[in-house]
Amino acid sequence: MIDVQREAFPPPFPAELWWNREQLENHVRLFPEGALCAEVDGVGVVGSMTGLRVAFDPSHPIHTWEEITDSGYIRNHDPNGNTLYVVDICVKPAYRKLGLGKWLMQSMYEVVVQLGLERLLGGGRLPGYHSVADELTAEQYVERVLTGELRDPVLTFLLRCGRLPIAVVPGYLEDEESHGYAALMEWRNPFLPAGGE
Ligand SMILES: CC(C)(COP(=O)(O)OP(=O)(O)OC[C@H]1O[C@@H](n2cnc3c(N)ncnc32)[C@H](O)[C@@H]1OP(=O)(O)O)[C@@H](O)C(=O)NCCC(=O)NCCS
Repeated sequence: MIDVQREAFPPPFPAELWWNREQLENHVRLFPEGALCAEVDGVGVVGSMTGLRVAFDPSHPIHTWEEITDSGYIRNHDPNGNTLYVVDICVKPAYRKLGLGKWLMQSMYEVVVQLGLERLLGGGRLPGYHSVADELTAEQYVERVLTGELRDPVLTFLLRCGRLPIAVVPGYLEDEESHGYAALMEWRNPFLPAGGE
């Protein structure tokens, strides 16, 4: 799993944000339903997705990655939380564009439905933003990716998975390429009546 992260998040992404053993042990101990892997026969693990449950209040949507995921340790996992929050999703570069990321996402949607949660939520990095940051605000960039005028390696992927933006958050994660911004992206459980529980 740590090897997958090393390949999936190369510099300038900070190496200290790759998983460590304690974080991975917490993921399978505290919320095993939210610890998913993609495995290729004869190769091993080539991708993973991790979540935790949080009590999310849509009227106060802004938070940082560190706050809401306990810096990836998920000790704040709330077994009664209404929202499945995505800590991370990644696929090794050699296995991208094969549908594995989307398959992991759809498997996590199944977890949301099985647990009767209101939504899946997570902050999507904007790794393409740095190349236009001189001309566009992060909000304008997200808008242009939404209209299809620009493509972003993560935001376009999340949109293709059916996630929709609810906010653009500054200072979300120490992430040079995204200039620290993330788009908070939601998928609502279609099997719950509108308006929540
Ligand atoms: C984001 C990531 C998980 C996507 O995984 P993947 O297995 O390549 O994605 P898939 O093959 O399932 O693609 C699903 C859809 O997204 C689109 N997509 C995937 N990568 C894309 C890219 N770089 N640019 C534009 N669209 C992309 C695909 O074309 C596909 O669209 P379709 O459903 O219309 O066919 C992978 O690129 C990755 O690990 N990136 C680095 C880690 C990272 O930044 N993770 C996000 C943390 S917030």
